[in-house]
Amino acid sequence: MKNIILTGVKPTGTPHLGNYFGAIKPAIELMQDPDAQCFYFIADYHALTTLRSADEMRQYFYEIACTWLAAGLDPDKAVFYRQSDIPEVFELTTIISNVTPKGLMNRAHAYKACVEKNEAAGVDRDADVNMGLYNYPILMAADIMLFNTKYVPVGQDQKQHVEIARDIAQYFNKKYGKSLMVPNAKISEEVATLTGLDGRKMSKSYNNVIPLFCPEKQLNKCVMSIKTDCAGANDPKDTNSILFTLYKLFASPEQIAAYEQAFHDGILWSEAKKQLFEVMNAYLAPMREKYDYYMAHHDEVDDILAQGAAKARPIARETMERIRKAIGVRG
Ligand code: ADP
Ligand code: TRP
Repeated sequence: MKNIILTGVKPTGTPHLGNYFGAIKPAIELMQDPDAQCFYFIADYHALTTLRSADEMRQYFYEIACTWLAAGLDPDKAVFYRQSDIPEVFELTTIISNVTPKGLMNRAHAYKACVEKNEAAGVDRDADVNMGLYNYPILMAADIMLFNTKYVPVGQDQKQHVEIARDIAQYFNKKYGKSLMVPNAKISEEVATLTGLDGRKMSKSYNNVIPLFCPEKQLNKCVMSIKTDCAGANDPKDTNSILFTLYKLFASPEQIAAYEQAFHDGILWSEAKKQLFEVMNAYLAPMREKYDYYMAHHDEVDDILAQGAAKARPIARETMERIRKAIGVRG
């Protein structure tokens, strides 16, 4: 039996370097493991908590789908699908809601952050909280457990969600016998959390991202706008700078050694940025070309995802048959 590896990205914004290095790239690398069967998907129903319109959904949906394909997802090796094509996810969500303590949801980070914000503002603690946000971790647990997932490659910020899925699987198994696989988070140590332009975690919510496939000119502008410290022109530069962290993600060991030496020797920040842009652009350009191709051929993307759903659904149905039997609504 192969180990099942599964991860999803929700289409809530233009993919950025944090998404790529924290979630997508590690997932693509895992695809090469002969002992693994990978399931990668676009979590479109998860995006409903934040999206404001159908147009936004369509736009970001294709941006995420094309990003996976441009980043090297091979649909013959990994099962690649969209969440909304798998209705069994929503049935499993309903079932496992009944073994999920409400208190577990109260402690989920995203919900807690909303409550804290509301309390600080002196308004009702649940103001602007919808049930989609509150139940978000249960839907995610269903995504994971439907395919008997053993490992979930995600960035550090999703660790709690995977732990919640573990808890839910264990509650279910305790009540109904061992029928759900207990999943494990797989966090890439290299870039647990990538820093953004302003020094905080790179995130669409903070408006501090470097988009993965923006045009060359915009990429250059972004790199030039990275905040640096006020070390004098010829002073040694601190390798804790985001510039250095980013450079390491894109460059060869020799290039990294030379860049580090230049930092010690007092490279100008403007020159350090120029060199960073060059390695980034060399790395991203071939992927950007593929991305632009798929963005101009949505019909091909639709076909690939339909084939993925056709592979995923029989497995989903099998799990649901087992789960229905376990809870006594069949057999
Ligand atoms: P965002 O924070 O921009 O809204 P998402 O929450 O949609 O990003 O995250 C999608 C995936 O990318 C998740 O697996 C998440 O852990 C990963 N990810 C997002 N931002 C970063 C980051 N700055 N560093 C590492 N991984 C990240
Ligand atoms: N919650 C994840 C995020 O915000 C997206 C997601 C939905 C996911 N379902 C998943 C990730 C299942 C891994 C496994 O990025």
